[in-house]
Amino acid sequence: VLAKPADLETVAGPSAFVQEVTEVKHYTDRLFKFRTTRPAAFRFRSGEFVMIGLLIDGKPLYRAYSIASPSWDEELEFFSIKVPDGPLTQHLQKIQPGDALLLKKKPTGTLVNDALTPGKRVYMFSTGTGIAPFASLIRDPETYEKFDQVILTHTCREVAELRYGEELVEATKNDPLIGELASEKLVHYTSVTREDFPRQGRITDLIESGKLFTDLGVPPLDPAIDRGMICGSMEMLRDTKALLEKAGLNEGANNKPGEFVVERAFVG
Ligand code: A2P
Repeated sequence: VLAKPADLETVAGPSAFVQEVTEVKHYTDRLFKFRTTRPAAFRFRSGEFVMIGLLIDGKPLYRAYSIASPSWDEELEFFSIKVPDGPLTQHLQKIQPGDALLLKKKPTGTLVNDALTPGKRVYMFSTGTGIAPFASLIRDPETYEKFDQVILTHTCREVAELRYGEELVEATKNDPLIGELASEKLVHYTSVTREDFPRQGRITDLIESGKLFTDLGVPPLDPAIDRGMICGSMEMLRDTKALLEKAGLNEGANNKPGEFVVERAFVG
C-alpha cells in the first residue's frame, strides 16, 4: 500500500501534489502525528483543512485533515486518529519517513481568524484530534495580533492523549518567532474525562458550571469581547455551540464573520 514518491506521480493527476513523509510520532494506540514536505506552491490560511490520501488497492483514497502546522512553516504537520478498520487510517498509521502521500491542492475551512469579528479574547475549544487546527493557529502571529488572550482548551478521554498538545504548547512558548507573544497571551487549559487527572470533566460541563472561568480568572462569556472556535466530534460541536449561543455569541463563516466558528474534527 505505502508507496514511494515516484510511484504516485501518475495517480496524483492535476488536482493533487505528491509529498514525502519526514517524521512520524505515535502518542497512544489511538493517536499519532506526522509531518511531510510542503510544495512551494501550496498556500493555506492557518486553521484550514485539506484532503490527504494514499493509494489503496490501486485507487487513491482521500480524507479531510486539518493542517496542524502554521501557514509560515516550511513543512506540513497533521495529527490523526488510528481506527483499526478505518478505510484510510488503518493504512496511514503505518507510514514511515520517506513514504509518499497525496495532498489535494485546495485547502479550505472555517476555523480561520478571518471568520471571526475582532475581539479581546479567543477561546479555542477542542477534544481529541480537534486540537489540530488550533495547533496551526496558536503558532500564527496573526492570532496574537488579533487577540490579547488566546485560551486553548483540550479535553481527552485519557491523560496520554493530552501529550501532543502539551508538547506543542511548550515548543510554541520556546519558539524563536512566536515564543514571546505566546508566553504572554496563550493559556492551555486541559481536562480528562475517563481517568484520574487534576482537572476532570467535559468542557461543556466546565463551561456550564462556571469552573472554566473561575479557574482562568476571567468573567463569563461575553459577546462584546469573547470569540470562540470549536473543533471536536459532532456531539461536542452541537453541545458547545449551544452554550456559546446561550451566552449571546453568533456563529460566523468565511463570507460573514461572526463571534464563533465551528468545524468537525476528522474521525476515521
Ligand atoms: P467522554 O469521555 O465523557 O465521552 P471522543 O474521543 O469520543 O471524541 O471524545 C473526546 C473527548 O470529548 C472526551 O473527553 C469526551 O468525553 C468528550 N466529549 C464527548 N462528547 C462530548 C460532548 N457532547 N460535549 C462535550 N464533550 C464531549
